[in-house]
Amino acid sequence: MNEGQKKGLCAENISLAYHDGSDVTLAVRGVTIDLAETGFVGILGPSGSGKSSLLYLLGGLKRASSGEIYHNGCAYSEMKEKERLRLRRNHYGFVFQQSYLFDYLTAMENALAGASPGDDQALARAMEIFEELGIARHAKKRPRQLSGGERQRVCIARAMMNSPSVIFADEPTAALDRQNGHRVMEMLAAYRDRGLIIVVTHDTAMLDECDRIYRMRDGTLQEN
Ligand SMILES: Nc1ncnc2c1ncn2[C@@H]1O[C@H](COP(=O)(O)OP(=O)(O)O)[C@@H](O)[C@H]1O
Ligand SMILES: [Mg+2]
Repeated sequence: MNEGQKKGLCAENISLAYHDGSDVTLAVRGVTIDLAETGFVGILGPSGSGKSSLLYLLGGLKRASSGEIYHNGCAYSEMKEKERLRLRRNHYGFVFQQSYLFDYLTAMENALAGASPGDDQALARAMEIFEELGIARHAKKRPRQLSGGERQRVCIARAMMNSPSVIFADEPTAALDRQNGHRVMEMLAAYRDRGLIIVVTHDTAMLDECDRIYRMRDGTLQEN
């Protein structure tokens, strides 16, 4: 199928098998999904249903065992490793369940780690993003001086540094209490007109803001 210059992110019949000795786990089974350039998409499913695996495939962090994924019409399987790296670095942002921050850097320095080398606008943009996320007053603190919710907001700021076209978030609220969880979801949702946000979670309560919700079960996906 010729995808041409179709905008957005789309996957056709993708699967992912993990091989562990003689064991094979089919974590993603023939998933097809077609997502526009903007919007806030939630993927809901219980633990072990394949949410992280699917997110890693869509984000180009893992290669599909079969099927094809396209970003703005470009097929992942036709990209060299370097091109995929460039796609991830320049066009995608990632937020994970645990806030992977450098302990020895300040919050601001951590966010700047997401900027491209030589980007002289980075600091000004990071300040703007910190303001928007309500963490400007924490810019000079180290991660250990911040609450879980604040650390997660630093991760969101880092993910937003390059104005990505897609933000992938893997259970970004799982380590937070409900109130902080909702704030984090609101902050991701606020990006919905600037790009596509895909959040996977096992917590239905976190998906109030979503434009579209999919359910994942045993590696398969269905729109809700
Ligand atoms: N690296 C791996 N090696 C082998 N099996 C894995 C690996 N990662 C995940 N799995 C298995 O794949 C399935 C889906 O896992 P995962 O994508 O992490 O689901 P979820 O994020 O919904 O909890 C599970 O059965 C899990 O045990
Ligand atoms: Mg997971």
